[in-house]
Amino acid sequence: MLPLNSIYHDAKLYDDIHWWKNDDIDFWRNIYHETPGSKVLELACGTGRLAPCLLEDGARYTGLELSPFLAEGAKNNLKNYSSVNIVTGDMRNFQLNEKFDLIIVGFNAFLHLLADHDASACLMAVKNHMHSASRFLIDVFIPNPLFLYRPEGVRFPVLEFTHSTTEELITVEESNMYDTDTEINHLTWYFSSKDIIDFARRKFSIRMFFPSKLNCMLIDAGFEISHQWGDYYRTPLGDGSKLQIYDACLP
Ligand SMILES: C[S@@+](CC[C@H](N)C(=O)[O-])C[C@H]1O[C@@H](n2cnc3c(N)ncnc32)[C@H](O)[C@@H]1O
Repeated sequence: MLPLNSIYHDAKLYDDIHWWKNDDIDFWRNIYHETPGSKVLELACGTGRLAPCLLEDGARYTGLELSPFLAEGAKNNLKNYSSVNIVTGDMRNFQLNEKFDLIIVGFNAFLHLLADHDASACLMAVKNHMHSASRFLIDVFIPNPLFLYRPEGVRFPVLEFTHSTTEELITVEESNMYDTDTEINHLTWYFSSKDIIDFARRKFSIRMFFPSKLNCMLIDAGFEISHQWGDYYRTPLGDGSKLQIYDACLP
């Protein structure tokens, strides 16, 4: 279930906030190009940000998204493309009755699987939608201790964006509380305009998966890991990596 204050309740706001996120587009386009077949499933597709780079190159694209608001946004954003199917559903438990050549979970979406059993359930559902030559990729950031152990309640700047309706410049600050037992980071985002400080607050939580854990979970779920990269340029995962990107298949 989406928490009440989720940052995923407003498709326009999601698109406004994430105007800056485009460093992964070429990566996904290339992954699609080099994968035989054209059937792509994106889990947690949001408003369909990644879909155009795949659709423009001939993909038959299905996006699964938990938030009905963002799923509606994806349908709207992608309405001029053919071969698009947006499904409202939960990546922990879905049954689309088809197999895909490529299944992806981009831009940290896997971190919304807060407990081990959520992540395992997702991996099992993914396997059910793969054939012997399918590829499955996950892209999440690597937890940084400087981020996890910030002083509680202290706010840090996150980003700025222009609100597409009011054209106001909005600044976003963040505070967090990391629970070391559950490895869940509880975040609050504070939205301010020039005139109104904190006109909105949004809470959300993300699981901090360290590379050793995610690696084990994939193996335990029966995947073979073909590559582990540390960035969108496919540098092997290593000490200085900021991202962990897994390219997996069925053995
Ligand atoms: C950081 S956004 C990424 C969205 C999109 N993939 C992108 O790259 O812009 C995370 C997304 O995960 C979705 N999500 C969270 N939990 C989910 C679940 N259990 N099943 C499906 N989608 C989920 C959220 O609603 C949100 O759209």
